[in-house]
Amino acid sequence: MKWSATGIRFTSDSGILRLMDDLGRALSGPEKKYMLGGGNPALIPEVAEIWRAQMRALLEDESRFDGVVGRYDTPQGRPAFLQAVAGMLNREYDWHLTEENVAVTNGSQSAFFMLFNLLAGSDDAGLSRRILFPLMPEYIGYRDQAIRPGDFVSCEPEIEQIDNHMHKYHVDFDSLEIGPDIAAICVSRPTNPTGNVLTNEEIARLDRMAQDRQIPLIIDNAYGAPFPDIIFTDTRPTWNENIVLTMSLSKIGLPSLRTGILVACPEIVQAVGAMNAIVSLANGAVGQALTERLFETGEILTLSREVIQPFYRGRCEHALGCVRSSFAERFPWSVHRPEGSLFLWLWFPGLPGTTTQLYERLKERDVIVVPGRYFAFGRNETWKHTDECIRVNYAMDELDVEHGIAVIAEEVARMWSR
Ligand SMILES: Cc1ncc(COP(=O)(O)O)c(C=O)c1O
Repeated sequence: MKWSATGIRFTSDSGILRLMDDLGRALSGPEKKYMLGGGNPALIPEVAEIWRAQMRALLEDESRFDGVVGRYDTPQGRPAFLQAVAGMLNREYDWHLTEENVAVTNGSQSAFFMLFNLLAGSDDAGLSRRILFPLMPEYIGYRDQAIRPGDFVSCEPEIEQIDNHMHKYHVDFDSLEIGPDIAAICVSRPTNPTGNVLTNEEIARLDRMAQDRQIPLIIDNAYGAPFPDIIFTDTRPTWNENIVLTMSLSKIGLPSLRTGILVACPEIVQAVGAMNAIVSLANGAVGQALTERLFETGEILTLSREVIQPFYRGRCEHALGCVRSSFAERFPWSVHRPEGSLFLWLWFPGLPGTTTQLYERLKERDVIVVPGRYFAFGRNETWKHTDECIRVNYAMDELDVEHGIAVIAEEVARMWSR
């Protein structure tokens, strides 16, 4: 096939494609697999029952059902859903939103594709502009999204060592340069893969820098407050007209309904709506229809606070306990302070070999993790640090997580004893 430059960009050796393929193949054998690798949320029985009940109610209301599945939605999203989301956020945070500030996308993943490519690239004056990720490691799903290679730039963090076995990344503001070539700043908060939550001061400073340069600050709130609220620090989300806050129904247990929600100034909302129309005509409406009432009543908040957050907090503490007891003092290790999301980010300082080798060893033993190097992008040099790190998803069955972490400990100890 004779691909275009864009075709080549999206088909050749994308890190995420290779990894997803490998993960899929690793899972396909007959043996039981310990899947600590992907980004799937947990199936929480109490939450799953709510979605089943909402689906039953939708099916029973025939005219509503026919409207939801039988008509194209507007490219910006279902008006009633946009109003319900704006209303809920106004009641919670007093942001004075209208439906002009809210857009729906087919998953928040596609919102990033649209935002990055709406903003980065050559502008009409011929200046090449890029997206700045001020705090690596970052979400693997961003890494191959720029239509033009080279449109991403990123910064290494400052590492605060909290104690022998725990650290936290901070934005290194001394090295952060925001020149005229920067089109937008983007962070995930809570961060996938590290579980970091950028501090309020960091966000305030990034917000000021973005406003000074008149560029948007994109905050990916896929795990944050007020839903799914998989965040263990006392943090309120921030929004103003210069911030693009993205949210998702995926981590409240509806990943296959592909519903992303974006809160931004009307200009960005309209641009995303326009691009949505070109790329996919309209959004899937089922996720919006299933959750609309929960946004209207505020039930989405209590569900997140009282069920989803405690569930993941428990899973996180359990996984951390497994790490502490399995790793003990067998080799050097440090975990990023888990402040939110579904992941532990484990660092093995001085590991003889790389975590890509560790990944292969673990795969042989049916334990699947993600090696750290995929979470560093927007840079030319390799960064040894990420070759000493792995991401572990702790949302899965507790016994599986316990077994997986015990195997990780054995394999890391073996790498050290060679
Ligand atoms: C930080 C982050 N942002 C965005 C997404 C995309 O989520 P979705 O497209 O399912 O809304 C994910 C998925 O795992 C994520 O972890």
